[in-house]
Amino acid sequence: MALSFNTSNSLYDFVVREGNGVKGVSDLGLPEVPDRYIQPPEERINKQESRTCDAPPIDLSKLNGLEHEKVVDEIVRAAETLGFFQVVNHGVPLELLESLKHTAHKFFSLPLEKKTLYRAGVSPAGPVTRLATSFVPEKEKTWEWKDYISMIYRSDEEALQYWPNLCRELVLEYLKLSSKMVRGIVEILIRNLGVTIDDSKTEQIMGDKVVNFNYYPPCPNPELTVGLGRHSDLGTITVLLQDEIGGLYVKMEEDNDAGKEEWLLIPPIPGALVINIGDILQILSNGKYKSAEHRTTTTSTRARVSVPLFILPIATERIGPFPEAVKNVGFARYREVLMQDYMSKYFGNAHEGKKKIIDFARINSA
Ligand code: OGA
Ligand code: NI
Repeated sequence: MALSFNTSNSLYDFVVREGNGVKGVSDLGLPEVPDRYIQPPEERINKQESRTCDAPPIDLSKLNGLEHEKVVDEIVRAAETLGFFQVVNHGVPLELLESLKHTAHKFFSLPLEKKTLYRAGVSPAGPVTRLATSFVPEKEKTWEWKDYISMIYRSDEEALQYWPNLCRELVLEYLKLSSKMVRGIVEILIRNLGVTIDDSKTEQIMGDKVVNFNYYPPCPNPELTVGLGRHSDLGTITVLLQDEIGGLYVKMEEDNDAGKEEWLLIPPIPGALVINIGDILQILSNGKYKSAEHRTTTTSTRARVSVPLFILPIATERIGPFPEAVKNVGFARYREVLMQDYMSKYFGNAHEGKKKIIDFARINSA
């Protein structure tokens, strides 16, 4: 029997309430996407009009050698301009990265009753795992063509108890083997502000970690849909593993001469990880580092997966610009906010761009 989704309620029931997600819709093999997935023209992504970012990946192994300062400069420069860069020789074994992508596919191929154990608000693990679709389907006019599971890290014991069997050990291993790189990058960026950073401060701003498996199933209308709508990331930094299909576009800070937005494709580079600055680091740095808006396309042929690792301050932390970063500019661009409040703001809104969220913390927002 062909499902027709005559009403928006029947689509909501199928996708959200029953937990089929957009993978369920994709599996039906419909010739066209349901209306709810059709983006307004201004939000559709024109691949032909976008350029590819040609910045070479930064070689982190050189941090240990004579070129240390040069590599630090490359990282700082990228954080101040595009807000995105790629790294190689990052210390995470490439086989582990391959396993993560493979396991993300495997998770989303599980039968529905296995996956829905991890649904938001349903899982006995409460907020520690969260299977969901789109971003906030209750609030969004148009849905994103994406399912995901979030795994929130608080302790090894909790992760081993509640995260999905099929990936718990692998994801923990990833967290362990990426932590030196993550800390190294965060410390470089903070020190460059003139801030003397000790271990407890580092812990405060990178104390929480969340790993997602993002799943973008094949889509019959890639030109009408988005995988992820425009957003900036919430946290301190994000480390993104993407597969060879690609489809991640980043908005350049300045529009071009014709006043048009310019988006750059961050191309998949074998073995590389993508690093981007989150809103919190933009606030901590008093606007020096850029938390860039980004979004993703969908493809008609194969499912795409990506694995972001979000590094965040702990929820009880008060976040405001470092005094040293204020001194550099002469005034504070952001006020102090409680991380918990910033998060509520972030997760209470659809993906409609960065400004709406970060202005929550901006002084004299105009
Ligand atoms: C995200 C994100 C990009 C991608 O999950 O926040 O931006 O390529 N992902 O999936
Ligand atoms: Ni993102």
